[in-house]
Amino acid sequence: MSEQISIHGQWSSRLTFILAATGAAVGLGNVWKFPYLVGENGGGAFVLVYLVSIALIGVPVMISEVLIGRRGRQSPINSLRDLAGEAQSNCRWQYIGALGMVAGLIITSYYSVIAGWTLAYAVRMAGGVFSGVTKDGAESIFAFLVSDPERMLAWHTLFIVMTAMVVSRGVRSGLEHAIKILMPALFLLLLILVGYAYISTNDHFGQGVSFMFNIDFAALTTGGVLTAMGHAFFTLSLGAGAVMVYGSYLPSDVPIAKTVLAVAAFDTIIALLAGLAVFPLVFASELAPASGPGLIFLSLPIAFGHMPFGWLFGTLFFILLLFAAWTSAIALLEPMVAWLVENRQVQRIRAAVWVGLFTWLLGVVSILSFGAWSFEFDFAGEVRRHGVYDLLDILSSSIILPIGGFAIALFAGWVLPKTLLVEELGGRTGTGFRLWYAAIRIVAPAALLLILLGAIGVI
Ligand code: TRP
Repeated sequence: MSEQISIHGQWSSRLTFILAATGAAVGLGNVWKFPYLVGENGGGAFVLVYLVSIALIGVPVMISEVLIGRRGRQSPINSLRDLAGEAQSNCRWQYIGALGMVAGLIITSYYSVIAGWTLAYAVRMAGGVFSGVTKDGAESIFAFLVSDPERMLAWHTLFIVMTAMVVSRGVRSGLEHAIKILMPALFLLLLILVGYAYISTNDHFGQGVSFMFNIDFAALTTGGVLTAMGHAFFTLSLGAGAVMVYGSYLPSDVPIAKTVLAVAAFDTIIALLAGLAVFPLVFASELAPASGPGLIFLSLPIAFGHMPFGWLFGTLFFILLLFAAWTSAIALLEPMVAWLVENRQVQRIRAAVWVGLFTWLLGVVSILSFGAWSFEFDFAGEVRRHGVYDLLDILSSSIILPIGGFAIALFAGWVLPKTLLVEELGGRTGTGFRLWYAAIRIVAPAALLLILLGAIGVI
């Protein structure tokens, strides 16, 4: 039998897939969101639930996505449709793919706005704006940026253009060279930052470490547990078909489970390193761990502002964070673009332009939600202040992604024949397979249902 290959090409090796999937997984979620969620939800116990969820929900669903993608060799919609056919099941399973594409577009639109902040900060760092800055100074610089729609628009536009450019060239040729340098560089820089936090903050480093790893369940609410579970899912980029589409470019002889474990491990390590770099600095600058989305935009500039060559490290840091966001946004748009190319006979370039334009427009709404169009509302027991931006975030990451993940788990666990699963996972049915099978049939769907109910405020 000749090997099937996607019309969009194939990764050149297992390593490039690992880097690309790690690039998709590692993003603002790890470096920006993870620390502030840990801060808002009381620390160690949240981290523990997060780690357990990566293992019990994230890894099993990720394996399923890669498996489905590689078997189908097309965009998520078409892969799901064909596999449903092969399993003699209902072709409506393909709608999971459509839902994922929609989530991808929505997430990209506001993700780009935050990525724009990192661009803005890279420039401010390079210009020495933060040198010797105080807590109040850092707060007002942040507030100033967020209340200036024109500035945010410029950065947002640049980010969408950057993303659409890579997607238009095809993720393979667009990504392969860049990620080989960028991912290791981000890792190294985070290590340096942790080292810096260790040297410069004295006792505060211990305070940061114990905040992250001292497990105090009293500090964790039910909502916090569900947030940790949901974030484990979000951080691995699951439920949107991104990992599925990357899986469709994976060579047939690569072992899926081992490869996915590597990606999940890298993603987790980067998030933990980000926490270890951020919290000591937060405590040293007397910021509140529960400062919310502004956390890294406040704590890090203050720290960089007081260290030798801080402007240099700071610039590098925000540039690398920008790259991490970039490789995630590329993965968010790829399912939609691949589908347009396959089903609508659109050229890749055109598809990328349309998708880019749409996300850009939607992003403009998010930008205005920080100023002129902001409104407050209560959702699932929390006050949300940024109008449509918050609505888009809730709709995509708290509602669509868990629904997508739930359906993917059911599809892999209950619809696809076991023989097909065993075959794709290397032919063995040992303990590893049985653990995965139990996770994907029972544990992951149950957990994702809980995450969904928690996110919409039923629990
Ligand atoms: N995992 C990304 C991050 O941590 C965000 C993300 C969520 C994502 N879902 C995705 C990225 C789907 C690519 C595809 O920043």
